[in-house]
Amino acid sequence: MDYKIRTKIAKILLKDAVDVNTEITILGLVRSVRVSKEVAFIDVNDGSCIGNIQAVFANPNTNPTLDKVTTGSSVRIKGKLIESAGKGQKFEIEGHSVDIIGEADSSYPLQKKRHSFEFLREIAHLRPRSNTFGAVNRMRSKLAYAVHKFYQDLGFYYIHTPIVSTSDCEGAGDLFRVSTMDFKNMPKTKDGSIDWDKDFFGDEAYLTVSGQLEGEIMATALGDIYTFGPTFRAENSNTARHASEFWMIEPEMAWAELEDNMDLAEAFIKYLINFAFDECEDDMKFFGQWVDKELFASLESVMKAEFERISYTDAIKLLEDSKEKFEYPVKWGVDMQTEHERFLTEKAIKKPVIVYDYPEVIKPFYMYVNDDGKTVRGMDVLVPRVGEIIGGSQREHRLDVLNDRIKKKGMDNMESYYWYTDLRKYGTVPHAGFGLGFERAIMYITGMANIRDVISFPRVPRWAKF
Ligand code: 4AD
Repeated sequence: MDYKIRTKIAKILLKDAVDVNTEITILGLVRSVRVSKEVAFIDVNDGSCIGNIQAVFANPNTNPTLDKVTTGSSVRIKGKLIESAGKGQKFEIEGHSVDIIGEADSSYPLQKKRHSFEFLREIAHLRPRSNTFGAVNRMRSKLAYAVHKFYQDLGFYYIHTPIVSTSDCEGAGDLFRVSTMDFKNMPKTKDGSIDWDKDFFGDEAYLTVSGQLEGEIMATALGDIYTFGPTFRAENSNTARHASEFWMIEPEMAWAELEDNMDLAEAFIKYLINFAFDECEDDMKFFGQWVDKELFASLESVMKAEFERISYTDAIKLLEDSKEKFEYPVKWGVDMQTEHERFLTEKAIKKPVIVYDYPEVIKPFYMYVNDDGKTVRGMDVLVPRVGEIIGGSQREHRLDVLNDRIKKKGMDNMESYYWYTDLRKYGTVPHAGFGLGFERAIMYITGMANIRDVISFPRVPRWAKF
């Protein structure tokens, strides 16, 4: 069979690139089918865009295959493209023949009705065939391209950082161990502790929580770089915004300070939104209509707005002075909780907010220490509906300050980070960077409310199916 002669539905509906009266072949899955005595309708989707194309067959009794077509089966339809007289569709196919390539059993779970997202998660192998998840996956692809385009156009180099790592960049300890040792029979050292020297890498190894530290190596050599890869966190937080495996984009700029970092973060988010409107119009319309009716208004206002930049100290004051009842109390020095972050961006300031200059004690060792000695040049970007979408900082590039901070944080294994301090020992360079959670960005741009529904095969506590 020659599959190459088929016409993709996107070419007809999105690109308007097929002339009417052309004989075409459509290959796709049946979304719905109605056969009566006089006429038969088959709605087909081929995944190239959200729209279906309808094939209309006159005199169905002359074509016995029509009676066998069921929802979910894969078909080849041949016919003539014509302008549609029906409402809501520009084109349809005057069907000449239909072949069933693969029947769908009558138990096919995706019938023509709305299914709950919870139900669809249980059938993650079939949900990409639904409207919502088709759209989500096309958006992921387009926005991944937008990420590369944004940085490549700015002259950043894409670098690959390791997935298996021996460092805990964030120091949060939420690590998945990588080991080939037999858990039932772990080799021990003389003092009875586990002998990691006998393990595959001769050391304790984990799945990476961030490519940042290796990203800094590259930035101090190549200038501006970015990473875009999978990231793993074993946080036991069963929230709608946390995944155990997610994708992170981490730009790192040499010769840059905190303000440059903020400028880049703001430009990056706006670029992605703009790209979604320009290049994913069809799928975006779907999200605006079916997922979140406020989506377009909210994103359009963000594009026009300047992100509010507010110090941690002022943000805490704002929270303390508010009449809002928080579950977690606020005072200077606490790590802000989601409820605080969302209050700032959704209620108090009502637009994206960049909070900066956090207390030194709650932030990792690598952040640049301000002259006050109490705060560091870290920043978080908070957006309505999602909360924190970006975390980053200016990096500590002064060797003595970095060493002091490492000691103060009680990081006893710091000899293994000699390579990180070497970057400061040999030709140190002020630099800064951040991480954007790709799934959180997709949630923000599509209005999808749960991270499990913006990554094809979510990994969260107690769930790694498919
Ligand atoms: O704020 P985080 O932990 O920052 C870092 O990892 C830095 N090393 C980045 C850097 O400076 N190069 O994480 C950055 C972003 C968060 O703002 C969030 O969007 C996302 O990564 N993120 C998660 N997304 C989904 N599930 C999780 N469990 C996430 N943890 C962080």
